[in-house]
Amino acid sequence: MNNEISFDVKNILGLKLPTDPRWVNLAEIQLEEILTDHAYCEQKAATTCITLITKNPEKELLVQELSPIVTEEWGHFRQVLAELKKRNLKLGRQRKDIYVNKLLQFQKKDGSPTERFLDQMLIMALIEARSCERFKRLSEGLDDEYMRRFYRKFMESEAGHYTLFITLSEHYIDKTVVRKRWQQWLSYEKELMKSEEIRGDRIH
Ligand SMILES: [Fe+2]
Ligand SMILES: [Fe+2]
Repeated sequence: MNNEISFDVKNILGLKLPTDPRWVNLAEIQLEEILTDHAYCEQKAATTCITLITKNPEKELLVQELSPIVTEEWGHFRQVLAELKKRNLKLGRQRKDIYVNKLLQFQKKDGSPTERFLDQMLIMALIEARSCERFKRLSEGLDDEYMRRFYRKFMESEAGHYTLFITLSEHYIDKTVVRKRWQQWLSYEKELMKSEEIRGDRIH
C-alpha cells in the first residue's frame, strides 16, 4: 500500500491544537521520565496492533499492513530501551496514561461493530498523530543535537503510521463516514489537550 502522503494531506488530517511550546523545556529536564513514558508508548502501539490483528483476522489488508508495524513499534521500544541503558537509567514501571484513558472515554461503547472498529482505528491514528507532533517538537526544540536527531527518526515513522490507520479505515468503511468521525475525534482531542496541564514527564 502506498502510504506516502503529502504535507497538504497531513494538514487536512492534522491536529487542531499545537503543543504548548513550554512542553519541550519541561520534557528536557525530565528526560528519564520522557524516555520511560516513550518506551511504553511504543510497547502499547505494538500490543494494540497485535490486538487489532487478532480481533480482525478476516480483514486481510489490515493483517498484512499491521504485521510489519508490530515489528517496527517493537523496534522503537528496543531503541528507547537501549537509550535508557546507555544512560544507566532504568525502564521503570508504566505510568498512568491519562491521555489515552481520556481518549477511550469518547469511544462509542454501544455502537455497531463497524463503529467500534472505526473508533479503535481512529484512536490509534490520533495517538500516532499526537506522538508524531510531540516528537517533532523534541526534534526541533531540544538543546542536545543527538537527541534532536533521535526524535527526528521517530517523528518520521509515526507520520507514516497515523496515515496508515486512516487509509485502512477507508478501505473498510465509507470514506465520508471515516472523515466525519475523524473530525469529531480531532475536536474531542483538542478539548482534551486544552484541559490537561502541561506535563514534562509524559509524551502526551
Ligand atoms: Fe513507534
Ligand atoms: Fe507508531
